[in-house]
Amino acid sequence: MHPQPAAAPGDAPLFETINVSKAFGVFKALSDISFRVSDGEFVSIVGPNGAGKTTLVNVVTGLLRPTVGEVRFQGRDIAGIGPVELARLGMSRAFQLVNIFPALTVRETLCVAIASRLRRVSNPFRSLKRDDVLQADAERIAEVLGLRAKLDTVASTLSQGEKKLLDIASAFALDPKVILLDEPTSGVSTGDKHAIMEVLVSAAKAAGVRAIVQVEHDMDLVERYSHRIVALQAGCVLGDMPPDAFFADPAMIAAVVGTRPRT
Ligand SMILES: Nc1ncnc2c1ncn2[C@@H]1O[C@H](COP(=O)(O)OP(=O)(O)OP(=O)(O)O)[C@@H](O)[C@H]1O
Ligand SMILES: [Mg+2]
Repeated sequence: MHPQPAAAPGDAPLFETINVSKAFGVFKALSDISFRVSDGEFVSIVGPNGAGKTTLVNVVTGLLRPTVGEVRFQGRDIAGIGPVELARLGMSRAFQLVNIFPALTVRETLCVAIASRLRRVSNPFRSLKRDDVLQADAERIAEVLGLRAKLDTVASTLSQGEKKLLDIASAFALDPKVILLDEPTSGVSTGDKHAIMEVLVSAAKAAGVRAIVQVEHDMDLVERYSHRIVALQAGCVLGDMPPDAFFADPAMIAAVVGTRPRT
């Protein structure tokens, strides 16, 4: 049920935080977090509202600089590097709130992301249409993410599930080695959640993505897809374990889902 990751324990991690803390003024959102992800892993970050999950993803992706500690990607210090530079190194993310341009079509959205990867910045909207390399790549990514039939649909008219897939597709357009997803299935129906996860996992395999980290509240999805679960509570790591151990521990489950079920 949980295919094993490619890396053996003890291998150098793809990325890690070392004793990271993050304060907002006097409030400590993360306290002494050491979090590592290795080749081949699918890791879920779980925890109640306000536990620090998004803050951790923001620190790992260089959007926020830790107050204390180090963030390393393939051995390189990337603290505060910013998402654009980090994407160039091979780490990209999708956001908790769908981060798409409502007036652009699926094709245009993907072309903008691909153009940014290829550093084609001049007059993007005029020239992208005539750029065969971009068009072919946009079509390839749309195919893999199940959006081919929607290529010329304006993003604002997509269903919530399709918007989520477009957000994920945009992250894939950056050709990442590692992908981080903050609640990739929030706000969609249970059936759509599973469909999105299936597409995500098969797309990651096809694209050679080496690790996936997701923040997820839906425990069915967490149990089904994760190799490892990292549970946060009040900015601290409460547990870091395989799903079998996590779901055998009622106290762990209560701490994580105690506050509310969320769809
Ligand atoms: N920029 C900020 N300034 C001040 N406080 C912040 C900031 N960002 C986050 N926080 C606080 O840090 C804590 C952790 O927030 P975070 O968004 O990481 O939680 P989360 O686990 O992602 O929650 P949710 O499940 O609701 O998405 C919260 O108490 C939040 O209010
Ligand atoms: Mg969050």
